[in-house]
Amino acid sequence: MEKHILTKLQNLRDEDLVSFHVPGHKMGKIYDKLGYKNILEEIYTLDTTEIDGTDNLHNAKEIIKDSQDRTAKIFNSNKTIYLVNGTTCGVQAAIMATCNPKSKIIVNRDCHQSVINACILGDLKPVYIQTKVCQNTNIIKGVAVEDVIEIIDNNLDSKALILTYPTYYGSTYDLKTICEYAHSKNMIVIIDEAHGAHLELSDKLPKSAIIEGADIIIQSTHKTLPAFTQASMLHIKGNRVDEKRILSMLRFLESSSPSYLLLNSLELAVDIYEKHGKNLMEDLLNIIDEFKSKFINRENILIHNEMDKTKIFISLKDLGITGYDLDEILRRDYKIQVELSNYYGVLLICTIGNDKEDFNRLEKALEDLLSKINKKDILEDTNYPKNLPTKVLNPRDAFYSDKKTVKIEDSIGKISGEYIIPYPPGISLISPGEIITQEIITYIQQGIKSGMIISGIKDTSLKYIAIIDKN
Ligand SMILES: Cc1ncc(COP(=O)(O)O)c(C=O)c1O
Repeated sequence: MEKHILTKLQNLRDEDLVSFHVPGHKMGKIYDKLGYKNILEEIYTLDTTEIDGTDNLHNAKEIIKDSQDRTAKIFNSNKTIYLVNGTTCGVQAAIMATCNPKSKIIVNRDCHQSVINACILGDLKPVYIQTKVCQNTNIIKGVAVEDVIEIIDNNLDSKALILTYPTYYGSTYDLKTICEYAHSKNMIVIIDEAHGAHLELSDKLPKSAIIEGADIIIQSTHKTLPAFTQASMLHIKGNRVDEKRILSMLRFLESSSPSYLLLNSLELAVDIYEKHGKNLMEDLLNIIDEFKSKFINRENILIHNEMDKTKIFISLKDLGITGYDLDEILRRDYKIQVELSNYYGVLLICTIGNDKEDFNRLEKALEDLLSKINKKDILEDTNYPKNLPTKVLNPRDAFYSDKKTVKIEDSIGKISGEYIIPYPPGISLISPGEIITQEIITYIQQGIKSGMIISGIKDTSLKYIAIIDKN
């Protein structure tokens, strides 16, 4: 039997990589450490489907309902629904369950692509809020409360608003004020908390959207807690939301045979969260503080946290090294895998699955790099685009319009027929239906030259792009 995927994964595992990326169980390390190995070893014999006694995720009444109810108590929600198709399907179900076709929804511009895809599926009109970006690091910092309030005031006919909180980089903002204001205008607040399932494990971390007053909160349990990839949760808080509609949408968006391996892994993650989570998080935050203290006031290196201290941004831009290069060097020469890179630096996702040894290896690698690398030219600045592209067509109309392919230099001022999404983080800079601008194309072309990967577009070298020809 050919075993290409398996063989490759086994080889990767045997490489002894340090994982500062998702999934949060860190290549199974946390399961071994906490004694869950035996359970996992028998899990393959428990793979099943909806038969007598196994309940049904899409109409949970027995074991799955009980498990979800226990989790709801632990996560402080009124209702928790397990997801087997990631936060992607939870975001889409939440949006389409709260908004009817043709209605407006307020969206942070740096949203995950699943939000725009939901606007295509549900025929919605997104109204974008610009996000703040740090010009020295290109760290995406999230929305400003005053901008959200202004957009709400100008779009009182919106049914809902959806925001990413925290951002991929761990930035947060005053969500409580936003929720109160949106509720005073009868809007439902949906929070894409893909990167924040761990927040309630410590008072030193920002508060979860569940506590800050959001109505629907979707978390990628697999990213920042120890669950298998694709295993996420949707939490409902309060009584503004029609739970039945969310469940109906999930039936459209998820498999009719949800994986029991994934459901089991969610239950395992919750068990670890409840029994060990706070202690492990305290240890992790101490290790991170200690690690950072070694590099404080050191020349040529920036080690930075936003509000969520489990996300670490490292930049060697003062040595003339791009984040894309640093990403490659750490993996190739030190067997350290980061989560993502941008032009200025790399982002590490640390979870309760990481231990002191991981940070020792990271510290050694950085010390070695600092001692070896001679200062090259300072990196030329490449600033994240400041201006939102103008939306001419709603995403669904754009998606279904006829398109033609043109050279990228002939596309400026035309309506894009494709996405341009630097991946990761999977945030679209141009979406179908928006006017292509020189500012955005220059930013992406510079990025590609230095190692940025883009998706959402057929020609990923960005020489050609599909446009919508509307004369
Ligand atoms: C902000 C954000 N939302 C949603 C998602 C989708 O999450 P999932 O991979 O659980 O489907 C991601 C994935 O990277 C993300 O970064």
